[in-house]
Amino acid sequence: MRVDDGCDVELARQVATRLNVPLLTPNDCPQGYVLALGDTGWRLETPPALNLGVLQLDFARGATAWRLRQAGRRQPLGRALGLQSSQSPRIVDATAGLGRDGMVLAHLGCRMTLLERSPVIAFLLCDALQRLAPDSLRGFVEVVNADANAWLRACTSPPDAVYLDPMYPERVKSALVKKEMRILREVVGPDSDATILLDAALHSGARRVVVKRPHGAPCLEGPDPTHKIDAPNTRYDVYLCAP
Ligand SMILES: C[S@@+](CC[C@H](N)C(=O)[O-])C[C@H]1O[C@@H](n2cnc3c(N)ncnc32)[C@H](O)[C@@H]1O
Repeated sequence: MRVDDGCDVELARQVATRLNVPLLTPNDCPQGYVLALGDTGWRLETPPALNLGVLQLDFARGATAWRLRQAGRRQPLGRALGLQSSQSPRIVDATAGLGRDGMVLAHLGCRMTLLERSPVIAFLLCDALQRLAPDSLRGFVEVVNADANAWLRACTSPPDAVYLDPMYPERVKSALVKKEMRILREVVGPDSDATILLDAALHSGARRVVVKRPHGAPCLEGPDPTHKIDAPNTRYDVYLCAP
């Protein structure tokens, strides 16, 4: 972990202890990932050998902000989750990642719990939410650093819906998003337990489970989806569960 000049070293020390990572001195030249605190919040610097640059989540600018401006309940993501006007369903995004889908759903009025098992990614999400998310969204979103499989199986108050977007090897997006996704994949690795997560979601008591898949990808192993919704770059497999 590194702290830019003028930033809060004591805060960085506390976070370093919590995440169990060393605090670097200005003379260190690390070859691995470095969490760094700067004027605009925390960022993740990737190893120089990967040539992927820096990951910093910002919901007020860039690709996520653009998606928030375009979002609508009648668009494929909103339709897949069955969003109705004047309702604020409680949705668990069990694969929060960079938080983009979760923030779109919060923007559409859903009360979101974002589950992310990577401590570093969950930390970046929390930081972006506190510092950089529009005020209107903050009250609608909580970020939890947890394994969603265990969380869903222990959940006593089922959400209205569970949303899953497990990592898939060949996702094609714009250059910017692709780079962010490549960094995410390097950090968290493949989600090879996605079928177990689907099973946990289907048994969580939620009335609806939605799985995001690339076009042409097989459905996750398990029961067939009730229906599918196609979007320009993706597909949503929708599972309606008996009450
Ligand atoms: C493809 S990314 C999700 C991207 C996200 N939908 C977005 O819009 O940014 C998948 C993320 O889910 C997380 N994940 C996968 N399985 C999980 C689990 N069982 N519990 C919590 N997080 C999980 C991974 O660590 C990864 O960050």
